[in-house]
Amino acid sequence: MIKKVLVGDEKYKVLIGKNDIFKNYLPDSIKNNKKIFIISDKNIPTKYIELIKRPITSSKVVNIHKIKAGEESKSFSNFQNILNKLAKKKYDRSDCIIAIGGGVVGDLSGFVAASYMRGIDYIQVPTTLLAQVDSSVGGKTAINIESGKNLVGAFKNPKLVLISSSFLKTLPDREFKAGIAEVIKYGLIYNKKIFKIFQKNCKLILQKKPKIIEDLIYESVKTKAKIVTEDEKELGIRAVLNFGHTYGHALEAQSNYKNILHGEAVAMGMRMASKMSMLEGHINKDDYEKITDLFDALKFSKNTSNSYSDLKKFIMTDKKVKNGNINLILLKNIGESFQTQKFDMENFKRSFS
Ligand SMILES: NC(=O)c1ccc[n+]([C@@H]2O[C@H](COP(=O)([O-])OP(=O)(O)OC[C@H]3O[C@@H](n4cnc5c(N)ncnc54)[C@H](O)[C@@H]3O)[C@@H](O)[C@H]2O)c1
Ligand SMILES: [Zn+2]
Repeated sequence: MIKKVLVGDEKYKVLIGKNDIFKNYLPDSIKNNKKIFIISDKNIPTKYIELIKRPITSSKVVNIHKIKAGEESKSFSNFQNILNKLAKKKYDRSDCIIAIGGGVVGDLSGFVAASYMRGIDYIQVPTTLLAQVDSSVGGKTAINIESGKNLVGAFKNPKLVLISSSFLKTLPDREFKAGIAEVIKYGLIYNKKIFKIFQKNCKLILQKKPKIIEDLIYESVKTKAKIVTEDEKELGIRAVLNFGHTYGHALEAQSNYKNILHGEAVAMGMRMASKMSMLEGHINKDDYEKITDLFDALKFSKNTSNSYSDLKKFIMTDKKVKNGNINLILLKNIGESFQTQKFDMENFKRSFS
């Protein structure tokens, strides 16, 4: 049984299932008519790429381009290399790109798809939990430049997103947990059902039990789809997706983007943003403790070494600071959030400890 979510005004489909999803749901137009350009990274098991290629007619041209794994690959030089390769191999606008990998492959491929000949179709096959619940849904694509991460990009929706939860079997545990942080985020900001699933099933989740992981992917995609469909160009409500991220980005920047994964920093940031929500009187102590208990049970670390003054300069240069005002996402309840620029600075400082 597959699960389906429709996203955005274009109503593209996100399909969630197991490995047979490719045989059954790769569209006929892809199987029969088009030239295919696959972008992946060198850590992605070859068997996944084979599985996706298998239903595509054998006489058809399929090129595979593998980038080095890691954030550095979201680069201008990779972007340019791929565009040149597409042009040399005479791809045109009726052809299609398939991105098979985590958020790095997805973001780079999406920006290539947005740019090549002013836009060609692409399909996302996300292989990390983070990419399955977050980066493959919502149409944001980007590369990094010297001056900053994700500074160059475009909004470009994929034609289709195909998710096999079976791919997570080979994902390193640390990467898996980084994705879990974003799933908890959906539970805290919008979807209490997710939070309840976590409270009941922590152990099974850490053991990556397929049924429960698939439920979490589905609930997460549904939540992100709901939020981004309401606000495709990020003018309003989509900001709640940044819960924990003002703190988290500062922690990532402080460590020079080394030794800490994005999800790990966001988990610390969500503890801090939850504390801030309590200090400002929006959630009670009981709910705050439920949240910290969950992060403890899942063995997410706390921020113990960085005070407000250590992180201040990174907070003030974050993209979310406008006219010197910090935009914070706070909780009204577990499962309900809002954006504000009005808060007590002393509480904000205390939320770091
Ligand atoms: N576009 C968006 O809306 C959005 C949202 C969130 C994050 N992002 C971007 O996503 C990127 C992070 O994505 P990520 O966390 O998926 O990292 P990633 O793409 O670097 O993948 C993490 C690691 O896991 C490996 N891997 C991936 N799938 C695997 C599998 N099934 N088995 C074994 N190894 C596997 C990768 O090769 C890599 O080494 C960042 O660049 C971030 O900016 C984008
Ligand atoms: Zn994030």
